[in-house]
Amino acid sequence: MKAAFIQEQGGPEVLLYGDLPDPQAGPGEIVVDVHAASINAADWKVRSGSYAKLTRFPYVLGRDFSGVVAETGAGVSDLAPGDPVFGVLDAGQEGAYAGKVAVRADLAARKPEGWSHEEAVALALAGLTAIVSLEETLKLEAGETILIQGGAGGVSGFAIQLAKHLGATVVTTASAANHDYVRGLGADRVIDYRAQDFTEEISGVDAVFETVGGDVALRSFDVLRPGGRAAFIASGGQAPKPPRSDVTALRPNVARARRHMERVAELVAAGVVTVPPIRTFPLAQAADAHRVSEARHLRGKLVLKVR
Ligand SMILES: NC(=O)c1ccc[n+]([C@@H]2O[C@H](COP(=O)([O-])OP(=O)(O)OC[C@H]3O[C@@H](n4cnc5c(N)ncnc54)[C@H](OP(=O)(O)O)[C@@H]3O)[C@@H](O)[C@H]2O)c1
Repeated sequence: MKAAFIQEQGGPEVLLYGDLPDPQAGPGEIVVDVHAASINAADWKVRSGSYAKLTRFPYVLGRDFSGVVAETGAGVSDLAPGDPVFGVLDAGQEGAYAGKVAVRADLAARKPEGWSHEEAVALALAGLTAIVSLEETLKLEAGETILIQGGAGGVSGFAIQLAKHLGATVVTTASAANHDYVRGLGADRVIDYRAQDFTEEISGVDAVFETVGGDVALRSFDVLRPGGRAAFIASGGQAPKPPRSDVTALRPNVARARRHMERVAELVAAGVVTVPPIRTFPLAQAADAHRVSEARHLRGKLVLKVR
């Protein structure tokens, strides 16, 4: 199969394109002929080594996929060759930047009719993360106010729409060029983080969904009401320690499950969430796609077209 892979960690140029052996379906697994894989911010962090030092090469990146079942392993009865599926690989597993990927069958959901593979994969890990963060971790309730940091990003764009659906008031941060975009997603108030300090603009919010990291994450505690809670997905495996004792810092456990993909499909079918703007690259140009992702100003999602 063709794949985009790395033989060493480093800049985008370490992403190579070539042939690797096809994976086999183990017990309980399917092999998917991948049509599209999305680029997630985690990918360039893994590639560069900022997450961890990799020890096995060649290493294929890519956490979510959309494609068609090519093969089923022993014990798989609910999916068959030819079924269109999408999903997120198990935690700790990567390999979707490739013509084929082996995945636990119970993590793959049927791709809704009418969605392209590019659309399905653009919604997969981004949707999963937003759903787990807002519904299961923050347990956002109607009538609450939430600050969603980095509103124009892949995860946050989904989260803004979901938070509105849950009945919350949404404040978000974005650069001026993205203000109309995030308002269109439903944001009630937008803070231009380049011109304004969000900690001076708002206070007393019930919840924060933090997707930017660094200093933005630490300062997000300042805007919470006493008893408020914040969920962090861009600060590593643990939430940062709050500098005050009257708020809660949470790290969502973004566990993979078919039911989350079905929830994504349900939200899109109900018109709650729209498909984000998608910029596609051929698999062979994964390095160029990483350059765009790493610049951290993409609106919506980047998708690799595999076939
Ligand atoms: N399972 C997990 O835990 C999980 C899953 C998915 C993602 N993540 C993490 O979540 C983070 C977001 O992921 P993503 O894929 O949604 O990111 P993304 O799409 O790459 O986010 C890019 C967006 O961030 C905005 N941005 C950049 N700097 C900003 C700032 N200082 N303040 C406000 N907005 C800013 C940009 O908007 P402007 O152009 O308007 O600046 C751009 O639209 C990443 O760190 C990723 O690793 C974790």
